[in-house]
Amino acid sequence: MNILAPSILSADFTILGQQIKETEAAGAQYLHFDVMDGIFVPSISFGLPVLKSIRKASNQVYDVHLMIEEPIRYVEEFAKAGADIITFHIEAASDVREVIDKIHSLGKKAGLAIKPKTPVEAVKPYLEHIDMLLVMTVEPGFGGQKYMDECTEKISEARKLVSDMGLSTDIEIDGGVTKDNIHIPLEAGANVIVAGSACFNGDIGENVRELLKNM
Ligand code: DX5
Ligand code: ZN
Repeated sequence: MNILAPSILSADFTILGQQIKETEAAGAQYLHFDVMDGIFVPSISFGLPVLKSIRKASNQVYDVHLMIEEPIRYVEEFAKAGADIITFHIEAASDVREVIDKIHSLGKKAGLAIKPKTPVEAVKPYLEHIDMLLVMTVEPGFGGQKYMDECTEKISEARKLVSDMGLSTDIEIDGGVTKDNIHIPLEAGANVIVAGSACFNGDIGENVRELLKNM
């Protein structure tokens, strides 16, 4: 079954809890939480106290996407604050295996993310150890960007690698998804779809239902 993960980066933070509940009521199984440190990516978003506070807003799977340098420093705190899946960037960790093992030791699922310019083969040594591979379809850092068509091939390549290795790793994509292009990453082999502006701009319930219908 394919999964929709609304990214709260595009939410209205004055009514964040309510908006999260709307995504859950409309059927979104995950909630995507983008953490930016202003170093790995140019922008700064939100962090631990926000996650801790919204954890009780829904019973969704909290999918935390760390866009931070040396994520090992914070995985324990994000696990304690309520993350179910902790995804970090291969480009940001000096010891990738150490971060994966740490996430698992905390009883959480581990995801590994690659930026558009990072080749899929970079994750090969880690694939059998992770639960999810995140193929970015925009340069990480901001919501509301355009889906990069050149990343579709990477999704197919990732799916092929996963199945050639006899694994059932989830493949998530993140960035630029709309109701009109959501079929493209799905057909290429992604099964977890992040959508920020496409969920939160306008009527959230309607947006989520429409996206799910197209999945
Ligand atoms: C980008 C973030 C995304 C972003 C997606 O760095 O990781 O999760 O919020 O936003 P949209 O769906 O608006 O491209
Ligand atoms: Zn994200």
